[in-house]
Amino acid sequence: MAEEQAPPAGPDLAQGVALSDFSGETLLGHVGDQDVLLVRSGPEVFAIDAHCSHYHGPLAEGLVVGDSIRCPWHHACFDLRTGEATRAPALNALAVWQVEHEGGRIFVRQKREQPKPLGRRSVEAPGKIVIVGGGAAGFAAADMLRRQDFRGSIVMLSNDAAPPVDRPNLSKDYLAGSAPEDWLPLRPDGFYAEAGIDLRLKSNVTSIDTKARDVIVAGGGTISYDRLLLATGAEPVRLPIPGADQPHVHALRSLADCRAIIESAKGARRAVVIGASFIGLEAAAALRARDIEVHVVAPEQRPMERVLGPEMGDFVRALHQEHGVIFHLGDTVAAIDGKRATLKSGGVLEADVVIVGVGVRPRLGLAEQAGLKIDRGVVVGAFLETSVAGIYAAGDIARWPDPHSQENIRVEHWVVAERQGQTAARNLLGQREVFDAVPFFWSQHYDVPINYVGHAERWDEIAIEGDIAGRDCLLKYKSKGRVLAVASIYRDLANLQAELAMEQMSSR
Ligand SMILES: Cc1cc2nc3c(=O)[nH]c(=O)nc-3n(C[C@H](O)[C@H](O)[C@H](O)COP(=O)(O)OP(=O)(O)OC[C@H]3O[C@@H](n4cnc5c(N)ncnc54)[C@H](O)[C@@H]3O)c2cc1C
Ligand code: FES
Repeated sequence: MAEEQAPPAGPDLAQGVALSDFSGETLLGHVGDQDVLLVRSGPEVFAIDAHCSHYHGPLAEGLVVGDSIRCPWHHACFDLRTGEATRAPALNALAVWQVEHEGGRIFVRQKREQPKPLGRRSVEAPGKIVIVGGGAAGFAAADMLRRQDFRGSIVMLSNDAAPPVDRPNLSKDYLAGSAPEDWLPLRPDGFYAEAGIDLRLKSNVTSIDTKARDVIVAGGGTISYDRLLLATGAEPVRLPIPGADQPHVHALRSLADCRAIIESAKGARRAVVIGASFIGLEAAAALRARDIEVHVVAPEQRPMERVLGPEMGDFVRALHQEHGVIFHLGDTVAAIDGKRATLKSGGVLEADVVIVGVGVRPRLGLAEQAGLKIDRGVVVGAFLETSVAGIYAAGDIARWPDPHSQENIRVEHWVVAERQGQTAARNLLGQREVFDAVPFFWSQHYDVPINYVGHAERWDEIAIEGDIAGRDCLLKYKSKGRVLAVASIYRDLANLQAELAMEQMSSR
């Protein structure tokens, strides 16, 4: 997704621009060979890196909210004064420059020192925090603890063999072969030791003793904690059909899964994807990029209808068909015998590689064993604390009170997991921050990104603006006239504005 660096655009801001040439909210220019964005916020003018530190999104097309700017692609947020990445998915700060006004012109001077984190000193910081899970939420929490200047000990236990990776990429560019593996780690290997994060890979936590405040690791190790974060994520649902355990039949969750699929895809001519979910269809697109014939088998009549509605579902199906995907909808795979997948309808598909994308289940085993309150997820309060004081949960496992939908919800989205990890970190330090971010996710199919903000499990109307087939649209999912969620294609600014409107609505 990261783009080639284009030559610097716009005026040379070091030479200054006339105030009269800067009438809008933002102006894209450069300082030396770096793209720099001038941003007006009230009476002040700021200068910040023009590209997001997540996937290089163009901030000039983003939304300015007070002293911050939000990225149009996946809604990261940066503080205009300090450059700090205040909301995931961006984790790294952007450079900011000093701005001076002189004789009716604005000059961008030297880069500012990277500021110290904005962290408030915590009132009752615990000595030792243990995080179970090395994914989106666990990583974001560990990172935020250090950004908050937490000086105590952090142990992060992950039963994965790989350090935290950019999981969404596993069904997109990396699987398609267009991103190298070194794009995947969320941080370079040396980061953990440098940051004093004791990351222990291949460490499977088997139980928690909430009275003694210990976690027990397979093999017998016991690790004590003062506060604990559970971020064990979700695991793919396995298909209970004959032949699902063969080596060319894969689920897709971890880097190891993805590597195994890539290995199976080498020399493969035909693939069967079971499930027309986000992951299934993204994987289908990635395999098409490898020139493999792809058959998608799924019981529903329209892909993604349950989440995106019939119109968007039809579009997604047509988009994949345009790229050569062959759908077998209203059908399921009954058995896989070697390279032959037999469908319930009786058809047989040849498959050198099979990907099973039939949904995930939250990994609740540890929470259940520890006696935490469970309701189709680990129940947490507004501060992401579980029913046991001192134990927090975040990410795919957490069911939290969402102020926007006014329901207790659990979602399986990258940005939500990271932001929950960040809020949990602050709360582990005693800051009492309510988790009130509006849920956001994106999905990428070929060159078409779908951005979705809000949460709508049911709706009574979908108001469609623009043209879905023309890939320029905004869909509003409404219940009794109230907008619960918005999905869009290439209407990023409107999607950001919808996010802001939902925030403002629920803070009233
Ligand atoms: C291929 C793929 C593509 C995706 N694409 C998108 C996308 O485009 N947009 C989007 O919004 N979302 C996407 N998602 C979903 C997103 O990745 C998840 O919502 C997110 O990773 C959840 O974060 P988490 O921290 O809760 O769980 P995870 O990231 O799954 O991390 C859980 C961690 O806990 C560890 N663990 C579990 N149990 C134990 C235990 N007992 N002991 C020790 N460690 C344990 C696991 O090894 C893992 O490290 C995608 C997911 C996948 C698999
Ligand atoms: S590119 Fe900016 S949030 Fe992803």
